[in-house]
Amino acid sequence: MTPIGIHDLELATAHHVLDLGLLATSNGTDPNKYRIGIGQDEMSMPAPDEDVVTMGASAALPLLQRHGADGIRTLLFATETGLDQSKAAGVWVHQLLGLPAHVRTVELKQACYSATAALQAAIGIIARSPEEKVLVIASDVARYELDSGGEPTQGAGAVAMLVSANPALVEIEPISGVHTADVDDFWRPNDSSTAVVDGALSVRAYLDALTGAWDDLAARGGPELAAIDRVVYHQPFTKMAKKAQQRLSQHAGSDLGEVGLQTGSVYNRRLGNTYTASLYASLAALLDHEDDLAGQRVGLFSYGSGSVSELLTGIVQPGYASADRARRVREALDARVPLDVAEYRQLHATELPSGVDVATPRVTKAPFRFAGIRGRARHYERTDGG
Ligand code: COA
Repeated sequence: MTPIGIHDLELATAHHVLDLGLLATSNGTDPNKYRIGIGQDEMSMPAPDEDVVTMGASAALPLLQRHGADGIRTLLFATETGLDQSKAAGVWVHQLLGLPAHVRTVELKQACYSATAALQAAIGIIARSPEEKVLVIASDVARYELDSGGEPTQGAGAVAMLVSANPALVEIEPISGVHTADVDDFWRPNDSSTAVVDGALSVRAYLDALTGAWDDLAARGGPELAAIDRVVYHQPFTKMAKKAQQRLSQHAGSDLGEVGLQTGSVYNRRLGNTYTASLYASLAALLDHEDDLAGQRVGLFSYGSGSVSELLTGIVQPGYASADRARRVREALDARVPLDVAEYRQLHATELPSGVDVATPRVTKAPFRFAGIRGRARHYERTDGG
């Protein structure tokens, strides 16, 4: 069988950053609750001229610069930060990236899970047409109400993955475990720009989904936990990965200890929650911060509230390491423009007026920007002259 999986991967984030130490001081919380208790240091926040389209296109651009567009006939855009009830956000990305017309483009939604559905759909397409490549983009802005329990777990970011036969990074193995359960732990009603969340229930539902997906993986003949070298997890906050690894170790009867937890959360600690992109940001961090993963089996646990989850495994390919990506991500994170708490609260409260034309202020330094709304349609532009 032809190996299929992630050939290359890139991250992008937003223009601004809020240090959670500032948020803690402003609301009278011990900063260690954020840094240690939930495991978050910072959160990214988009400028008014950024959104999931600009972040997604910015993540995908370097992939196209490295590999070209040849063979890409499908663009799958995973997000739970929907910008339109009808049009797929990927169509704007397709235009911004100058992709050829002969590409099918669609948006997928199921909370934080849908990038994994996109990855599996991509693998299915390539299994049938091994010469094709699929561009998978996961891009989200995590927004909760000001002064709510979820506030310190906001964030923003995108991961773009080029999926192909004979991948250079991670071959995805054919067997996976899946799990669906109708649960009201987290959702975003159509009339709300912030999520509704029952935090404690979401943690329980996540862990139950993990054991459910594990049981399905085992029943279908997947590997024993002892044969999995690292596991990366969806990280609504990085402490969740630690809780998940403990639960998985107990449930599957093999102690993973804390292996991979620190390396797998280097980016997520600074990005905040990136919903669909979170698991794949964690995979990137693991690949970028461990020396000797070639030939090792990595488990990937994807969870989307509501809830759908999947546990898949992949084999890290020889020559996977890219010191360059670690540098690029660190530089992008360091280059974010800090907000103080007053500026953060003002930006959070700013929403686009409904039904009128809007021109957004020029703020972002990213290669793409959201220019505004004309005649109720969103407009984007490339800023780097490319
Ligand atoms: N120093 C160190 N740790 C501290 C601390 C301190 N001063 N104060 C509290 N903590 C720890 C707590 O012991 C707890 O640890 P534990 O989870 O290991 O028991 C942790 O910090 C969180 O404290 P808690 O009181 O549970 O926080 P909270 O009521 O504010 O809720 C979340 C935390 C994560 C549930 C909340 O931020 C949330 O709802 N986030 C959104 C959830 C989400 O995104 N779900 C999506 C689907 S998974």
